[in-house]
Amino acid sequence: MASGGDVPGLIRGLEGIIAAPTAICELDGINGRLLYGGYDIADLAEHATFEDVVYLLWNGELPTADQRAALSGSLADQRAIPDQLVQSLRLYPRGANSMAALRAAIAQLGLYDAESESIDTVALRRIGMRLTAQLPTIVAANQRIQEGRDPISPRRDLGHAANFLYMLSGREPSEGDARALDVSLILYAEHEMNASSFAARVAASTLSDIYSAVTAGVATIKGPLHGGAGEAVMRTLEEIGTVENVEPFATAALAAKRRFMGFGHRVYKNGDPRAVILRAMADEATQRTGDRKWFDMSVALHGVVYREKKLHPNVDFYSASLFAALGIPAELNVPIITIARIAGWTAQLFEQYADNRIFRPRAAYVGPAPRAFPRRGQ
Ligand code: COA
Repeated sequence: MASGGDVPGLIRGLEGIIAAPTAICELDGINGRLLYGGYDIADLAEHATFEDVVYLLWNGELPTADQRAALSGSLADQRAIPDQLVQSLRLYPRGANSMAALRAAIAQLGLYDAESESIDTVALRRIGMRLTAQLPTIVAANQRIQEGRDPISPRRDLGHAANFLYMLSGREPSEGDARALDVSLILYAEHEMNASSFAARVAASTLSDIYSAVTAGVATIKGPLHGGAGEAVMRTLEEIGTVENVEPFATAALAAKRRFMGFGHRVYKNGDPRAVILRAMADEATQRTGDRKWFDMSVALHGVVYREKKLHPNVDFYSASLFAALGIPAELNVPIITIARIAGWTAQLFEQYADNRIFRPRAAYVGPAPRAFPRRGQ
């Protein structure tokens, strides 16, 4: 098998390769800064809503009050998903992986969209709106069906984040919970040329349709080295079990070269700015609930991993204890990341279709030299 070790010109994992220009998101890994359209993520987290950020990512500017109302109304109007899709969700196997179900559902959603094959600029915008509006409905409906309950229809009068929490539980969330999810969606909405955005762009670069490109994004974000870490962090905390066990467990695991999900980053080497915001939010949310166990364990694990490996937590680390405090089951952590990231994927896909060249890198051949086909019978 090719190890790729010393092949001239090979850049493993395409590290540092610039694959496209973008006006959407700037990621400064050295200084730990993330900006959407020139606005710092910390300012957006403090002052914006997810709907504002969707507008910003798609249009390059924050919306005026009228533009915000139009976009929010448009998203709210298009939340319902086709009945055929709900029927299909009911047929998915019990216990199906939540991201596998979402991947299948998004691929299927395209079948019911009469415009799905169009890559015309205006049609792409309309499809992007529908995808952003409908992903939360799919995730909530699938979760309830998996739990043996009926899906809950979306409400038009609630914001994007609040409506999602409502569709999960049937109860209108508190303002604090809705805002915590809203800010999480902002933090997860876009992240430059990460693996899933790249996968989506690669699919689009063949001029395949946007549903195919988004399905490629979902398939890619699912992996534990990417968005899948969002669930893996909670599974690790469950495995460790108690605050007291963090130190012995983590020290032994790191000595045995275990990789802790939720730590490290390809680009941020001095810390992920989103993790700082999420830590404060998880702290606040767990103070509200009074159940601090997962947060306290996270703080302790952060301490050990930093002390032993000098690795900082990434966006997926403190979101695990935050989402748990919002009453969200761990299997929904990655679908929620996807509900947010659809905004960034679609923005990047608009860019890709507007200025396309097919992605077609090379591989360095390291297999056997040319050889004669053996004669039969010899
Ligand atoms: N736990 C333990 N060690 C880790 C680590 C982690 N989460 N992340 C990186 N390292 C170590 C590696 O073992 C490696 O050490 P070595 O040089 O002694 O072998 C070194 O740090 C560099 O790691 P590498 O895998 O080359 O970095 P990368 O840029 O290819 O990978 C990630 C980046 C994000 C994939 C990687 O940090 C990781 O696997 N993190 C966990 C998954 C995760 O949280 N993903 C979500 C990202 S937002």
